[in-house]
Amino acid sequence: MDRSMKRALVIYSGGLDTTVCVPLMRERGFDAISTVTIDVGQPEEDIAQATERARILGTDHHVVDAKEEFARDYCFPAIHANADYFGYPLSTSIARPLIAKKAAEMGLQLDHVAAFIHGCTGKGNDQFRIEYGLRMFAPDIPILAPVREGNLTRTWEIEYAEKVGAPIGQSKDKIWSIDENLWGRSIEGGRLEDPAFAPPEEIFQWTASLEAAPNEPQVVEIEFEGGNPVAIDGVPFGPSAVIRAANEIAGRHGVGRIDIMEDRMIGLKVRENYECPGATLLLAAHKALEALVTTHAERAFKALVDQQWADMAYKGLWWEPFMEDLNAFTGSVQRRVTGKVRLRLFKSSLQVIGRESPFALYSEAAASFDDEAVLEQSQMTGMVRIHGMESILYKRLGLNG
Ligand code: ARG
Repeated sequence: MDRSMKRALVIYSGGLDTTVCVPLMRERGFDAISTVTIDVGQPEEDIAQATERARILGTDHHVVDAKEEFARDYCFPAIHANADYFGYPLSTSIARPLIAKKAAEMGLQLDHVAAFIHGCTGKGNDQFRIEYGLRMFAPDIPILAPVREGNLTRTWEIEYAEKVGAPIGQSKDKIWSIDENLWGRSIEGGRLEDPAFAPPEEIFQWTASLEAAPNEPQVVEIEFEGGNPVAIDGVPFGPSAVIRAANEIAGRHGVGRIDIMEDRMIGLKVRENYECPGATLLLAAHKALEALVTTHAERAFKALVDQQWADMAYKGLWWEPFMEDLNAFTGSVQRRVTGKVRLRLFKSSLQVIGRESPFALYSEAAASFDDEAVLEQSQMTGMVRIHGMESILYKRLGLNG
């Protein structure tokens, strides 16, 4: 290959936006097109479809299996921080930095890469997350976003794909825009954009409807070690497998449907639907265990830290020093988040019904009225007497008339 050769590396999902990028980049004069699909646990059919479409498009195609890394280094820290952005467990958000990082590595590895190409539109959060990750790890390679830069519409893309014979296999009436990974599934677009429109049953794939969910409740036990879920009902699992198992169990009971108003980074308020059964189950269990082992001051402060963490993760700023600082605190707390939590799943509801830990700060003797070993009730009299003393002094000043 000669020196003037220009290769485009398309971050490829196999969907409409990234598929039209391939012929568009050929028209722009790139001599070679590579495509890379990062596997973060989206359905296997999606990975296979991307591979098949890349073959039809005639690109140099690569698939990077990042499932285990995603589970261990992205989903687990999200559990440690009780990931919650206004009700959203950040499923799409936390996958984007890893997708960008893996694509950047591929860009540095292949010869003559003259540009990264991504399919993000100008309205979402993903453009920020993806480009930040690429600039972080491959700062010298330019980035093109043809859909955003060309103001492309879905209808234009479909017509263009048909004209140039690009494999899209979807008609104009395919209305939902879906993003999936191990940590959850996002469904947006079409009539769902109207906050008043009730989500139709057809948008759900990971969670059972109320009607289809079993008529018997199920109790499930999640075991944690240092804040990481390591076993379900006594069966040990690795990082990605534990999330998959949690998705399956909670999904069967219809747990984890989320319908929220979300404030996007560009200041756009949008309606979002998610299915995050495993995340919902694991986060509820983790929160319950953390509450058993932490002091009041730790809990109060961690709620603030968790909120900051969620904001940073939503923006995709995974490698900011502030994120490191926040992770240092959550990580320190996790050292004691070891133990078991039992939850009951039934017809879309999820209840914590029991928790235990070798690090529990709970003492039966102290909490019960029958045991005077830790504290005799009568010893409290003096402490109670000075409760609110400052406000009693303040009242004596008579300032309020
Ligand atoms: N609003 C969510 C986020 O910003 C999900 C975006 C999902 N993207 C999609 N094409 N469905 O994290």
